[in-house]
Amino acid sequence: MSEAETLSVELTKAFIRLIAKHTGIKIRERDRGNLIQKIFLRMKALKILYPEIYYKVLASSTIYSYIEWQKFIAILTNTESYFFRDKGQFNLLRNQILPEIIKRKQNHKSIRICSAGCSTGDEPYSIAILLKELIPNIEEWHVLILGLDINKEALKKAREGIYTAWSLRSLDAKTIQKYFINFNNNYYLDEQIIKMVNFQYTNLVKDLFIHPYSDFRDMDLVICRNVFIYFEPTVIAKILEKFYHTLQPLGYLITGHTELCNQNLSNFHTKVFPESLVYIKK
Ligand SMILES: C[S@@+](CC[C@H](N)C(=O)[O-])C[C@H]1O[C@@H](n2cnc3c(N)ncnc32)[C@H](O)[C@@H]1O
Repeated sequence: MSEAETLSVELTKAFIRLIAKHTGIKIRERDRGNLIQKIFLRMKALKILYPEIYYKVLASSTIYSYIEWQKFIAILTNTESYFFRDKGQFNLLRNQILPEIIKRKQNHKSIRICSAGCSTGDEPYSIAILLKELIPNIEEWHVLILGLDINKEALKKAREGIYTAWSLRSLDAKTIQKYFINFNNNYYLDEQIIKMVNFQYTNLVKDLFIHPYSDFRDMDLVICRNVFIYFEPTVIAKILEKFYHTLQPLGYLITGHTELCNQNLSNFHTKVFPESLVYIKK
């Protein structure tokens, strides 16, 4: 960072507050230098000379601000993800949770699952692969798998379904062969699996997704992993409340390990499995 590219402590704090308000993401003390670099990167792209002006752009409620937030979020968010990330939780889904939901929904043949903070799609597609393996007559079922994220660039990649070997590092050769085509060092996900997931831009902090036209309702399972680690406890509490309302009674919530520490979970039963804790709507 050059000497010219510094921000006053007050302005840095103002940016941090604005980011937390808009996205829920809390910038840690040690990441402040990194944040300042990102602010200057966007200022250069927009040919803005003063950080105060960039702050005003973000803080305004214009279409220009909305578009700029998309660009800023694309460099602000950590989109690290890969297929079957956390083998324990995916084994739990494969062996216990999904079979239980499938059994419960046998009559209606309808399943609704949401991956909140789905990044490039690795997580919802992993669930789609599991459902395809677990339900032999899946074409007779209404399967909704929603992938929600605030990062539109990640969602674009998710819809394309093209991955590098690094994203498949947790998969065995047989699964890769069955669901991907390897071409020019890229792995193209099977079209049938791509069609099973519906990606939608959503800001978990700001959007009110509890309305009758929202797809995000009556969920059998909400999975939200490695998202809350960036959020303040008060923001997590608000999102938990939204998840509660979008779940069906006895619907499951799965988060990353320890991500709900110190949260009020009185609306949920906590079930302990060796692989993970899971939360069930009362
Ligand atoms: C580290 S990735 C986790 C991806 C996946 N869940 C996993 O565990 O592999 C975190 C994702 O959360 C998304 N995210 C951050 N804040 C968000 C918000 N307010 N609303 C929706 N998504 C958000 C980021 O864009 C990013 O794609």
